[in-house]
Amino acid sequence: MALKMPLLGEEFPDFTANSTDGQIQFHEWLGNSWGILFSHPSDYTPVCTTELARVLALLPEFQKRNVKVIALSVDSLESHFGWIKDIKAYAGYSEEGFPYPIITDKDRILSFRFGMLDRDELDSEGIPLTARAVFVVDPNKKFRLSILYPATTGRNFDEILRVIDSLQLTDKADVATPADWAQGDRCMVLPSLPADEVAEKFPDARVVKLPSGLQYLRETPCPKH
Ligand code: BEZ
Repeated sequence: MALKMPLLGEEFPDFTANSTDGQIQFHEWLGNSWGILFSHPSDYTPVCTTELARVLALLPEFQKRNVKVIALSVDSLESHFGWIKDIKAYAGYSEEGFPYPIITDKDRILSFRFGMLDRDELDSEGIPLTARAVFVVDPNKKFRLSILYPATTGRNFDEILRVIDSLQLTDKADVATPADWAQGDRCMVLPSLPADEVAEKFPDARVVKLPSGLQYLRETPCPKH
């Protein structure tokens, strides 16, 4: 199978995978939810354990935003099931079972197809492991965000929640979110929105004066959505 990563805005391909929740058909599994597919290099490694535990702790936040999460590595299902006990213990999670699936991609078909492999991280046979990929897919199955971290850098899942907030807000209102934006902060009116519509839709918007004299930086309080 060739490396065939969609562009942002294209449909994220459907796929079948084996997981700790059984066989998953990705699009069917997503249903009407947003989804985050995230890979990690290896089970029973320290940073990965902190990451999957963090996702466990943040599940209520993902659920509030109608987001399902699904993890992936090249380890076996047997390995995943064993490691889950460590993740739960580290997270202080005492419920039965494990509330999100972990895909086994032993043959690396998905990892290769979606460009998740890292030539700097090899298994004992010298074959690349998965990097720390984050792919966000929306309820229309459209590919919305891609971030790829190396094995030695654990992800900031608060940032991933922040991106989801931005995507969900900017889907509904004609705004974009500026640097370091957090939910509730002021936003930027889309540069493509004509001035007469700005006045109508964003009566509290203000144009920031710049040396160029161009009126493209139009701030508005965060729209309610
Ligand atoms: C870790 O999860 O701790 C890790 C995995 C692979 C390489 C480096 C760190």
